[in-house]
Amino acid sequence: MARRVRKAIFPVAGLGTRFLPATKVMAKEMLPVVDKPLIQYAVEEAAAAGIEYFVFVTGRGKSVLVDHFDHAPELEELLGSRGKEQELESLLDAMPDPGKVFSVRQQVPLGLGHAVWCAREFIGDEPFAVLLPDELLMSTPPGLKQLLDVHADVGGNLVAVTEVPAEHTNRYGILDVESDDGRVAKARGMVEKPNPEDAPSLLANIGRYILDPAVFTYLDKQLTGAGGEIQLTDAIDATTDTLPFHGVRFEGERFDCGDKVGFLTANIAFALKRPEMADRVRTAITQLLA
Ligand code: G1P
Repeated sequence: MARRVRKAIFPVAGLGTRFLPATKVMAKEMLPVVDKPLIQYAVEEAAAAGIEYFVFVTGRGKSVLVDHFDHAPELEELLGSRGKEQELESLLDAMPDPGKVFSVRQQVPLGLGHAVWCAREFIGDEPFAVLLPDELLMSTPPGLKQLLDVHADVGGNLVAVTEVPAEHTNRYGILDVESDDGRVAKARGMVEKPNPEDAPSLLANIGRYILDPAVFTYLDKQLTGAGGEIQLTDAIDATTDTLPFHGVRFEGERFDCGDKVGFLTANIAFALKRPEMADRVRTAITQLLA
């Protein structure tokens, strides 16, 4: 029986160059899908999976992400005095309890592995989760919970995966599969962004991880990999000698919100799930397509 996972890392230092000019002064993780910022979806997904402590690995200009999970006294007072109870409640509900949100600066953008390594002291010697907020998952049970349920049985390192077309392997960490029961794949390793001809499979990591603190031993060495960056993929790959590594097929809808079309699609999909607007959105889309 694996140890319980209590802490999650949210790497949020990225500059969001693909969304300029929207992200010139605004953190890309604050981009809203319908009316909720991407970071809040990720935090809610983690909380719904039982995560208790949330650490943001931020960069300069990203303090707003921490502010988003704090009180906004003036706004709360205004909503209260105007009788906007529902809005007030939704703001208060979104706030983790005091002492549960942490942040650490990734002073230099040296890669995802480096970002996660920046949170090592906070994690200590226990298994932990990593969620990439660009990847927005819509599912019941929540994406991270699907991983945690498998982790409880197999331990070690796990990532959520989905099958991708061969021409997309160079966008993802791709699993080197040893055996596969159709839902959970036992893997020998993972390769970061291989070209289709070098890809060991079509199972791609979609930005949800449960990791053993042993990955920090590799990350301590600060070795660079694909794209000259310190890769989390390489740390996991290097740890497969001593620890099991599994990919768990994500069951649900996934939206790559690091991509403009993925982000727009997420907005439409989430809007269609909202009873108060679904009909109007459907009508608007039909009219646009007519
Ligand atoms: C990161 C990871 C990659 C993973 C991807 C999922 O890459 O390095 O292994 O498949 O996220 O979105 P990035 O998209 O940040 O370059």
